[in-house]
Amino acid sequence: MSKFAIVGAGFIGRAWAISFARAGHEVALWDQDGDAPGKALAYIDSLLPELAKLDLLNGNSMAQVRQRMRGVAGLEVALADADYVQENTPEILDVKRAIFARLDQAAKPDAILASSTSALLPSRFTDHLAGRARCLVVHPLNPPYLIPAAEVVPAPWTDPAIVSRTAELLRAAGHAPIVMKRELDGFVMNRLQGALLEEAFRLVAGGHASVEDVDIGIREGLALRWSFMGPFETIDLNAPGGVRDYVERYESIYQRLHPSMRERADWGGPVLKEIEAERRKRLPATELQTRQAWRDRHLMALAAHKRRAAKEIV
Ligand SMILES: NC(=O)c1ccc[n+]([C@@H]2O[C@H](COP(=O)([O-])OP(=O)(O)OC[C@H]3O[C@@H](n4cnc5c(N)ncnc54)[C@H](O)[C@@H]3O)[C@@H](O)[C@H]2O)c1
Repeated sequence: MSKFAIVGAGFIGRAWAISFARAGHEVALWDQDGDAPGKALAYIDSLLPELAKLDLLNGNSMAQVRQRMRGVAGLEVALADADYVQENTPEILDVKRAIFARLDQAAKPDAILASSTSALLPSRFTDHLAGRARCLVVHPLNPPYLIPAAEVVPAPWTDPAIVSRTAELLRAAGHAPIVMKRELDGFVMNRLQGALLEEAFRLVAGGHASVEDVDIGIREGLALRWSFMGPFETIDLNAPGGVRDYVERYESIYQRLHPSMRERADWGGPVLKEIEAERRKRLPATELQTRQAWRDRHLMALAAHKRRAAKEIV
């Protein structure tokens, strides 16, 4: 058991808190808005019964997980004896630079300082710090207590030992760290998602497929395999002789497509009107929130299934 500090207790901060507390850590939540930790804990209270029902609390009772979390009134209190700090303040460069300066000053010298930033390179907000070698990005998908992958991204000056300690600690908490060798805009997951979205927009903009048919292609097609293996494992298993055989048989198809996939799709251009109209016909704007709750229930069921399947399927 270690001491964890959550700095910024909004959407992502409160979700990390569940992940770390069910892994056995003491978690102190602090936020610039004094009401935020209390609200985060109330939200967590409302989630715990469903997580317990689906066996997503790592064998702990709700009470055990809950009593490891507390809201604190001052940043210094949260950091006092923290071994690991997860920062989740807004995605604004100046805010990250300022908060990291405070973290570096107040945290123990050997504490790890990790940022949840979605798209800021760690070198952009840690360069000015005396303790910059212990700073890095740990970028989750929302919500991290249901989605194991988290991108571990070092700045050029991050100590490799900090990177491995972070990856170890995430693995021990049931996460699946993606350990980048060097920072890169978009990290790994947004680059993959960006490539897919770009093609999705292009298919609709070119009048080749409807919005729903693109969604079916993923939801009822590619994503069934992708929910338990990645693109490289997929192609390794899709030719009798493995990945080399796949490339020899099928690379020419993708080579032929490539020139038509280079042109930038204008997401905000006329195609957006068409996409929005089709989406709003299927889901009126007034039902967006209900559907978000539906998505979260699906994610929970899928997370529970994946945990079970990992034990039962060999
Ligand atoms: N929401 C997502 O899907 C998602 C996914 C991955 C990563 N992230 C990243 O996580 C970070 C937080 O995003 P979020 O969605 O939780 O935002 P949010 O608005 O829900 O939460 C941000 C919290 O930070 C607090 N805050 C603002 N300024 C602060 C400061 N100077 N010090 C301390 N607390 C401060 C706010 O009061 C708020 O509670 C961002 O960097 C975001 O890019 C978000």
